[in-house]
Parts: sequence; C-alpha cells; structure tokens
Amino acid sequence: MSTEDVPVIAIDGPSASGKGTVAQRVAEKLDFHYLDSGALYRLVALIAIRSRVNLANEMRLANIARDLNIKFLGQEIRLENENVTDLIRAEICGTTASKIAAYPQVRNALLDRQRAFCLYPGLVADGRDMCSVVFPNATFKIFLTASIESRVQRRYKQLIEKGINVRISDILRNILDRDACDMDRSVSPLLRDAGSGLLDTTLLTVTEVIDEVIKRYTEISTKNI
Ligand code: CDP
Repeated sequence: MSTEDVPVIAIDGPSASGKGTVAQRVAEKLDFHYLDSGALYRLVALIAIRSRVNLANEMRLANIARDLNIKFLGQEIRLENENVTDLIRAEICGTTASKIAAYPQVRNALLDRQRAFCLYPGLVADGRDMCSVVFPNATFKIFLTASIESRVQRRYKQLIEKGINVRISDILRNILDRDACDMDRSVSPLLRDAGSGLLDTTLLTVTEVIDEVIKRYTEISTKNI
C-alpha cells in the first residue's frame, strides 16, 4: 500500500479547542497512528528556551527543528531520551512554539517528519495546518472550534490536572495572544480549509465530539469505496 492510499483524518483548530484529546481518542478507537504536530513545535520551543536561543534567529531554530532527536512512545514523548511529556505542556512552551511556528524555515524543516507519520492502517493528525498544508489530500478534514469561555475552562482543567498552577486570567490572555499570533502569520495561518467540515464543540462532551468525528469519517470513507 503506498502512503497515498493510507486513510488520513486531519483535525485542525485553535488552542484548547479539544482537538488533541479528540484526535488521540479517535486514533485509539480506529487503531490508527496519531500525530500531535503541536508537540513538535513545543519540542523546538523547549530546546530554544533551554539553550537561550535568540527567537529572532530563524535559521538556528530551523536547524533545531531538523535535528530533533525525539521518540513518541504511546503517550510519552522523549527528547534525547528524557521524558518531556508534561514539560512541553507548560504555557511558556506553547507561547514560544506559537512565535517560532511563524517561521517558514521552521515549518519546512518539520514537514517531512510530520508526513512520515502517515503509515498503514491510517493516521489521525492534529494541528493548525494539517488540512491545508501537511495533508491536503486527507480522506477526511475537520475544523474544531469552541467558545473562548469553554476553551479557557478546558485548558485550566487540563493544566490543573497536570499539577501546573495557573490563573484563569493568565490562560485567557495566553489563548487570545496565541489565536492572534496563529491567525495573523503569513505562512500556514490558522484558517479553516475550504475542504474541512466544521464542528463547534462548545456544548458537546469529549465523547460526543469523538463519536461525531468517527461518524462523519465513516460516512465519507464508506462513500469512497
Ligand atoms: O495545545 P494547543 O492547541 O494550545 O497547542 P499545540 O497544538 O500544542 O501547538 C502549540 C503551538 O504550535 C500553536 O500555538 C501553533 O502556533 C503551533 N502549531 C502550528 O503552527 N502548526 C501546527 N500544525 C501545530 C502547532
């Protein structure tokens, strides 16, 4: 089977729209591979923060992205063999990731690495540009949204559960800043791709969102047989 025949479910959406949790659970249910593309940008951010790299140095950041020595072991993410799964979820990694994700050279350096996740029997990929740039020919594309209030509540709960202490007001500011940064950049801005369906998850539980995504995907994939 060539990679072109591998089914891909591409899920895009803004920060804290729930796409990470949903994508991961949809992948588990279908027994597909899972790509958390945001984790790649967060890993580059973590290295840049630790090495005090000047965030204006696009070429240096692109080199870091190209040379990433990482492993995804189920839910665990390893950087040079160190478990950084929780560390990269810190808000500083998210905001730094958002800044460096605006650089075309960084995005290019991560492109092949992301496409390499496309393996039999299928892939669920989540990010900002899965539908538009990384997997434009995906079998099924969906854009998840939610109201700003519910996104703030979800992110708050997620961080508190990880033992990371945060203030609601800081989360709100971070999400608004990140939305602005992700939408205003000239390369791969956060946009709903023309071929993507829309799902507003504000009033839905995680299970309802997962079921709806699988239902829509199944409708499309059985139609194409
Ligand atoms: O969890 P959250 O949705 O807030 O962020 P994430 O998916 O972990 O991604 C962190 C940052 O990386 C985002 O704010 C984006 O700026 C950037 N990113 C991107 O530009 N393209 C992607 N495919 C994934 C993430």
